Amino acid sequence: MMLEIKNVHKRFEALEVLKGIDLNVNKGDVVAILGPSGSGKTTFLRCLNFLERADQGEMVFDGERFDLHAASRADVARIRKKTAFVFQNYNLFLNKTVLQNVTLGLTVAGKMKKDQANEIAVEALRRVGMADKLNNYPAQLSGGQQQRVAIARGLVSNPEIIYFDEPTSALDPELIGEVLAVMRQLAEEGMTMLVVTHEMDFARHVSNKVLFMADGNVVESGPSQEFFEHPQQERSREFIKSILEARK
Ligand SMILES: Nc1ncnc2c1ncn2[C@@H]1O[C@H](COP(=O)(O)OP(=O)(O)OP(=O)(O)O)[C@@H](O)[C@H]1O
Ligand SMILES: [Mg+2]
Repeated sequence: MMLEIKNVHKRFEALEVLKGIDLNVNKGDVVAILGPSGSGKTTFLRCLNFLERADQGEMVFDGERFDLHAASRADVARIRKKTAFVFQNYNLFLNKTVLQNVTLGLTVAGKMKKDQANEIAVEALRRVGMADKLNNYPAQLSGGQQQRVAIARGLVSNPEIIYFDEPTSALDPELIGEVLAVMRQLAEEGMTMLVVTHEMDFARHVSNKVLFMADGNVVESGPSQEFFEHPQQERSREFIKSILEARK
């Protein structure tokens, strides 16, 4: 087991958002995190990367145990080194070029020499099909292109796992496919990914596991095929049905 997540709790004042989330992740797993709006998906992902502090919870990463509430700054830095986070709104620096956006983490945080950082960045940009836009600024790119640059930025640190929070939901429909194609390619290359998504085709055909959440609880989790073909819970059946109907 690469990642074992146990009993994650989080509240925002009176609002209990996560009520004890568990998840086991093997190397190469692509986990689709599904659930209605407000169910706590984003909060869960943010707690795993300490963008939000859980009130309680534990994570075993590569055999090392971390307390999601009490982890030290050094532990947080160590975990973040092994992970990357891709946000819905890309979060690129608008005053920096594509190449600069992707090298920044290496040259500043990683203290790498510029030439070497450039080489690694160009390779990552090639993987996402963006190596021909090195000197463009984000405003000169489509949303799908910006999101692919954001994925390249995540790749350069050679993460063991990438967290995606609705990576395609800010995109115009015609741009979703190019980003999903990059994610599918990463999955095929064996990248471990946790993906909050409303893209059911991705969840069904690219992810191998589903974590279905509602009201801060895990309703059902397991192999994607089983989830979609034989959902165990009434809540899961309703969710799948509502998504299929929304598409008609
Ligand atoms: N910083 C915060 N302060 C207070 N409440 C918050 C905060 N962040 C999230 N919440 C609340 O926690 C609940 C879960 O939010 P979260 O963003 O995790 O849901 P989600 O499943 O990602 O939803 P969506 O599908 O709409 O993105 C919501 O009721 C939200 O309003
Ligand atoms: Mg969310």
